[in-house]
Amino acid sequence: MKDLILVTGGTGYIGSHTTVELMAKGYEVVIIDNLSNSTIEVLDGIEKISGIRPAFEQFDLCDKEKLNAFFSKYKNLKAIIHFAAYKAVGESVDKPLMYYQNNLISLMNLLENMDDFGVPNIVFSSSCTVYGQPDELPVTEKAPIKPAESPYGNTKQIAEEILSDTMKVKPNLNTIALRYFNPIGAHPSTEIGELPRGIPNNLVPFVTQTAAGLREGLKVFGDDYNTPDGSAVRDYINVVDLALAHVIAIDRMLEKKNPANFEFFNLGTGTGSSVLDIVKTFEKVTGKKLNYEIVKRRAGDIEQVWADTSVANEILGWKASRSLDETLLSAWNWEKKLRGIN
Ligand code: UFG
Repeated sequence: MKDLILVTGGTGYIGSHTTVELMAKGYEVVIIDNLSNSTIEVLDGIEKISGIRPAFEQFDLCDKEKLNAFFSKYKNLKAIIHFAAYKAVGESVDKPLMYYQNNLISLMNLLENMDDFGVPNIVFSSSCTVYGQPDELPVTEKAPIKPAESPYGNTKQIAEEILSDTMKVKPNLNTIALRYFNPIGAHPSTEIGELPRGIPNNLVPFVTQTAAGLREGLKVFGDDYNTPDGSAVRDYINVVDLALAHVIAIDRMLEKKNPANFEFFNLGTGTGSSVLDIVKTFEKVTGKKLNYEIVKRRAGDIEQVWADTSVANEILGWKASRSLDETLLSAWNWEKKLRGIN
């Protein structure tokens, strides 16, 4: 029998790509998603790629009764990958309570049920935002946690604390927190990808929407940073590479290869790219000219961050392998498909 994995937020951006890779590895998946930031059609895309439709339950993880009934129904869960959360930095500043409630209560509800129903393993979606602007680059897992820049970032820090404190008193439970750098791109099949609502906050969806004619021009936020070309630097990681790291984390816990019951890993490429690098690379691989202008810095942005990936490389045996060229092309192919562009 296949091992059953619960993927919360499984119709979302990273969740859908991870569901595909889990099923390719022979896992069975059940998704919980309230569709607050995704659509039911994502399941069709997953099914087209995988030839299998994952089980799906639509409800809010903050609903304790429904979650309890879910755990009673799916008794043979082996692990959880918890993606479901609000993730817009700016929105979290305007609506802090909404973020704290949703992102933290859902996690605590899951942990209570894991303990009650004997589900031992959880992979948690964390973020490099926990490091703020690190003092040293590339940033290792030993870098100190900096005060959060936003309620969103704070929910990731507090969630890791909730997990770490809980693991101390629950030796039968295991957590792997994965600290993502900047996930971009789409599945090469173009059956699934990122579906931002409204005007995108993130760079790559804004770039692809600009190229598709939905936005007039990209605003490059700042060219006066202390970086080689003055624009801010991030570590952009292909979403399929990122998804594969989740499968490895699940394998690791199911095979009981984790020496400690709370572990955390940086997931990036190890290479920083500036905003202008992204613009130039996008133009090169797509042959499209991008309309952009330099404007002032965006509030709350850090100058530069990229990952030291040696711990993930050595301990997980995982390395990002997809190039920035290929990744930006996949983002563009997905945008073209969404907009019906040939
Ligand atoms: N940028 C632009 N123009 C845009 C959008 C972004 O120049 O229209 C720049 C930003 O200023 C930044 C870079 O592109 O320098 C990347 O911005 P994103 O918004 O794509 O990503 P961030 O690094 O700001 O955000 C990411 C995650 C968040 C997380 C944050 C922590 O998306 O979830 O890192 O730093 F909280």
